[in-house]
Amino acid sequence: MKNLVKKYSYLSYQNNVLYANGVSIESSIRNIKTPFFVFLPKHFEDNYAHLKESLSKNIPNLMISYAAKANYLGSVLSAAKNVGMGVEVMSMFELKLAEKCGFTAKDIIFNGPAKTEEELKLSSELGIDRVNVDSINELKQIEKISEKSDKIQQITVRIHPNLSKETEKRMLIKKNSKLGIDFARAVKLYRYASESPFLEPLGVHVHVGTNIASHSFYEELLRFLDDYIKELEQNHRILIKEINLGGGLTSRSELESNGFSLEKLGSQITDTISNIDNKLIIFELGRYFVGDSFIAITKVLRTKKTWGRKWVFTDIGANSLIPMRYTNYGVLPMQDKGKGQYCRIGGPLCLPVDVLSNESVDFKIEEGDYLVILNCGAYTLSMSEQFGYPRPAVYELQESGLLKIIKSADNLETMVNEAFQFS
Ligand SMILES: Cc1ncc(COP(=O)(O)O)c(C=O)c1O
Repeated sequence: MKNLVKKYSYLSYQNNVLYANGVSIESSIRNIKTPFFVFLPKHFEDNYAHLKESLSKNIPNLMISYAAKANYLGSVLSAAKNVGMGVEVMSMFELKLAEKCGFTAKDIIFNGPAKTEEELKLSSELGIDRVNVDSINELKQIEKISEKSDKIQQITVRIHPNLSKETEKRMLIKKNSKLGIDFARAVKLYRYASESPFLEPLGVHVHVGTNIASHSFYEELLRFLDDYIKELEQNHRILIKEINLGGGLTSRSELESNGFSLEKLGSQITDTISNIDNKLIIFELGRYFVGDSFIAITKVLRTKKTWGRKWVFTDIGANSLIPMRYTNYGVLPMQDKGKGQYCRIGGPLCLPVDVLSNESVDFKIEEGDYLVILNCGAYTLSMSEQFGYPRPAVYELQESGLLKIIKSADNLETMVNEAFQFS
């Protein structure tokens, strides 16, 4: 428990009660129906400031963007916009969210392996330059759209890099995945774009994993990219102005507890990439920003013993905290009642995978207690399912310590009516 509190700089126990950002939320949560999420905007902003400061010590031209899919609550997108980040989107829905939030074309990066014609037309109308492409057919469709409007569309190619077998094994997105295009075939896309009067190569894009906290991965990737860019520039006369290193960093608390240094990442980039003064380095991170800037509050519904093990069942489950296998959620008691029996914590679903934490916990837990789930801001709200229960509400922690609602929970009656909508 102590180690977990140390990992999250904004958490502390005072008189055995959990404090976040120096304020106790214990009294405010008692009037709110559990389970619910809490957004910590101050921590989100702090994560950004820390990243920017650490990377810009070494990188001369830097663009930091927020990957909307990690959590597209309006409050999160607005916080990203207000601190000056760009935004990475992958669909019409996310494009519309970015527009509504006030991001302009120069702030937007448009990704996705199968963009529709409608999406590509809107992106062209908006004047988005950072369109990441990973197929020749999409490139040809973009060419037709820009020819019709007599424009030159800049394009970045999302490649899958050549990594060692060991590194490939550790990455979520592997060589044979549907995402990106192999680096050798990608050369054809660059050549096609450079020969078309309606297209112009802009950059190279790589995104191969999530929860990354490894300097050796970046060392390998950057060495590959430097050679690859030299090959494009010297042998094919294709000028690469931008290097998009994708997302993939794990949440800040996890990075720090793994000894990963953002400042070192910045110097790895400048030490490896030739001609860095003439290149824009882009990051489009999701988990790093939102992972640990959310907590969830859940109530213990039931406890039981089976096969010699104690189980604790909470009212939040895998339908809200997905995809659990990618995330190390931490669990802490709202009120520290001292040491208890080792137990595992599960959600309320009739699913064996509905287990909240990889590790057992050994603090005292009783039915009716409140627990706090940590590191739960990335790919939870944006991927959550109803699966038997309404999706939880979301609150924002204000500086006063009060909680302000920013998204309502699903309404049970509406859920029932929707099931019978056309019956
Ligand atoms: C193309 C692309 N960029 C960025 C991200 C953000 O990744 P992360 O949240 O791991 O930083 C994703 C996530 O799937 C992605 O697909």
